[in-house]
Amino acid sequence: MSVPAHVSIVEVGPRDGLQNESLTLSPQTRAELINRLAAAGLSRIEAGSFVSPTAVPQMAHTDETLALAPRQNLRLSVLVPNLRGLAAALAAGADEIAVFAAASETFSNRNINCSIEESLTRYAKVVAEARRYGVMARGYISCVLGCPYEGEVDSGRVASVASALLEMGCFEVSLGDTIGVGAPLPARRMVERVARVAPLDKIAVHFHDTYGQALANIFACLEVGVSVVDSSVAGLGGCPFAPGAAGNVATEDVVYMLERMDVETGVSLDRLLEAGDFACRELKRAPASRVAQAYAARCSDSTEAPCDADLPKSFDATD
Ligand code: HMG
Ligand code: MG
Repeated sequence: MSVPAHVSIVEVGPRDGLQNESLTLSPQTRAELINRLAAAGLSRIEAGSFVSPTAVPQMAHTDETLALAPRQNLRLSVLVPNLRGLAAALAAGADEIAVFAAASETFSNRNINCSIEESLTRYAKVVAEARRYGVMARGYISCVLGCPYEGEVDSGRVASVASALLEMGCFEVSLGDTIGVGAPLPARRMVERVARVAPLDKIAVHFHDTYGQALANIFACLEVGVSVVDSSVAGLGGCPFAPGAAGNVATEDVVYMLERMDVETGVSLDRLLEAGDFACRELKRAPASRVAQAYAARCSDSTEAPCDADLPKSFDATD
């Protein structure tokens, strides 16, 4: 099996990452993070969400983040749960919105306070309205490989939610392993099941790394033909409605793996490491990215050669 020659990375750190950090960053700092991620070559970035600030206080003032963030050569997306969120996203000039459904009834109720069916009815209106304004809509599905409340999740259920999201006009569905319980073969089988109802170029994968399986899962899905991968700089975050879930797979780790396989991403690893370092300093935490940890260890060891001395050739061109 082969993997795609080019992979698009959707950077979700400023939303999925920051929504579950204990420190809340100001809109200015969030915009500066987006600025640094864009400078690293990321062109699809999730900038925040227009949800209840009581439910997710870290995402309050996303409108200010958008107003301060750079806009050139960028698609800034925001999560919206309802028409009210869409109105705020349109007023703030978001380039793209994302609606978020689930493949598990209990998770749907805990996360957005309604059943899957009710959410799809609500989202059909949101997506239609967004498209009327020329704004593209992405559809998320949570708990595609397991639910914190219900356990096993049937891939047929994932496929039917994916089908409904595409039918209402979403341009892409992102399959979320919200609690990071997946493993490569179940992940591949789940994507193959969804690919029976959705073209592969409309499928993205979104792995949280709770059990350390995310990179292996991504590789398994690339082999099926998926070429859009969500990730979060420094592996920030988790999900406030999925107890114990770790952050998304780190963007640095995904970029490193893809570069070493000669898969193009358009992202500069050096600049990305700088953006991750900025985020971690602001959040007063260490990066979850193994690549960031390895680079930091090499650079701090003064007895070693300069920290980029033995980088693979492909890294030399990034700066
Ligand atoms: P509800 O209780 O059904 O709706 O909430 P409501 O209309 O009764 O509103 C409840 C409160 O939210 C009210 O405020 C509304 O004004 C306010 P209160 O009177 O209590 O002060 N509200 C809003 N505020 C701002 N913007 C809005 C908005 N709508 C209502 N658009 C609702 C339903 C979904 C709105 C609420 O439960 C909510 O916002 N939840 C947050 C959900 C969330 O952000 N979850 C995390 C993101 S999903 C995720 O991380 C998974 C993903 O990464 C994929 C994966 O990993 O699997 C995408
Ligand atoms: Mg997520």
